Amino acid sequence: MKKTILSMVAGALLMVSCGPKSTAVTGPKYTASEQLVQGKTIFENSCSRCHKLPDPARHDDQGWIKTLSRMAPKAQLSDEQHQMVYDYLISVNKK
Ligand code: HEC
Repeated sequence: MKKTILSMVAGALLMVSCGPKSTAVTGPKYTASEQLVQGKTIFENSCSRCHKLPDPARHDDQGWIKTLSRMAPKAQLSDEQHQMVYDYLISVNKK
């Protein structure tokens, strides 16, 4: 029992140490155009530093969750910014 608790604590610590917790985005949150416009601005400013801006249509909603959870920490986005970029991307990824 004691061992189980210990390994759970160790597991939790490991997860925390494995990077910023900006993997919080698991789905859409904002639909108001205000946040979508902000998301677009953040996307255009932060996501073109290392590579060309990706086409939002490159991924579906599920795919962007995965990609953004890798890229948002690279771009040093806060959870809030991460969320707004996500909501912007999925608002334009299909026509
Ligand atoms: C610090 C540099 C850096 C920043 C900032 C950055 N990226 Fe990336 N990105 C990379 C690198 C390196 C790769 C290629 C390796 C890989 O796929 O992890 C990549 C690959 C990608 C890919 C192709 C792989 C895939 O999963 O489709 C997409 C799309 C992408 N980035 C989107 C973004 C978005 C959106 C942002 C803004 C939130 C962003 N990136 C910010 C470095 C960066």
